[in-house]
Amino acid sequence: MRIFSGIQPTGRKHLGNYIGAIRRYVEGQDQAAESIYCVVDLHATTVAYDPAELRERLYDTLAILVAAGLDPERCILFRQSDVSAHPELSWLLSSVTSWGDLNRMHQFKDKSAGQRELVSAGLFTYPVLMAADVLVHRATHVPVGDDQRQHIELMRDIAERFNARFGEVLVVPEGTYPPVGARIMDLQEPTRKMSTTGGTAEGTVYVLDPPKTIEKKIKRAVTDSDDPPVIRAGADKPGVTNLLEILAAARGITLAEAEASMADARGYGDLKAATAEAVIELLTPVRERYEELRPDERRLEEILAVGAEKAAASAAPVIADVREAMGVGRPR
Ligand code: TYM
Repeated sequence: MRIFSGIQPTGRKHLGNYIGAIRRYVEGQDQAAESIYCVVDLHATTVAYDPAELRERLYDTLAILVAAGLDPERCILFRQSDVSAHPELSWLLSSVTSWGDLNRMHQFKDKSAGQRELVSAGLFTYPVLMAADVLVHRATHVPVGDDQRQHIELMRDIAERFNARFGEVLVVPEGTYPPVGARIMDLQEPTRKMSTTGGTAEGTVYVLDPPKTIEKKIKRAVTDSDDPPVIRAGADKPGVTNLLEILAAARGITLAEAEASMADARGYGDLKAATAEAVIELLTPVRERYEELRPDERRLEEILAVGAEKAAASAAPVIADVREAMGVGRPR
């Protein structure tokens, strides 16, 4: 097993990112022969952004990953733009990617609708670079949240089409999704996913929120007006289901166990109190370690330098095989 995943250095990382992805990267370090994690700054340039802020957010994201438990000795942790094999493979793969498939991506439709001045070609070809990220390391497993399913399917199609056309060069990877919390929803609008760009400020819990803020946001979460209140998961109860999912994910139990733990609750207030407590317990150690790590940018750059060297070494043989198979560059 070889794990790869990527995370954008945009906005502030939230509970959805933590439960759906970051926490699982940390577990991956012990599960896989090799686990590779990338802060994808090239992807972040596909929408309007401020260059100075991008650098800040990159350090923020990296410090959160290390604070969450990624250990540069046990995984490869690097910045996408430091390893040119990624954009190189992206270009090469674009010739086996169908324009029609790219045009069907939900994320492109959502994000392009939010752009005021320019819908960039980079936003359109974003999934090709994402495919390259994974395929250039011959990763077998990709831990992501539910919102990345379509991108993962496209990545598999690209690998299969490449292999059919040029020979068995690439590994076709699999997406892996958490049993609970694959799609954490906005606390104020529980039919929309929690997100820095699309969600509400009040309904988004950030990894770095102090305990009081977390408590306030969860206590104000939208539930429903069932009378008497019913604490169970179901499509007709998005707010309560989301709280139960968060509770289950934060405590590391199943959804059924989370429901059962609320059997004696007097109302939604008890569910919110239990959920807030579990989330505070989950995130507090990360925030505390983050505060120690974040100021030392030189140390963060050292981590990235080591990671870039290892990632480049991992990608080099794959790029060489792809070039050879496609007949570009100097023959071997
Ligand atoms: P990004 O940076 O938007 O999100 C990082 C990870 O967090 C997950 N996630 C969620 N999980 C549960 N509930 C939510 N509300 C929620 N919101 C976000 C995402 O699914 C993701 O796993 N395109 C990717 C970055 C990327 C990548 C890759 C991922 C670039 N190259 C290669 C995997 C492999 C993205 O924008 O993630």
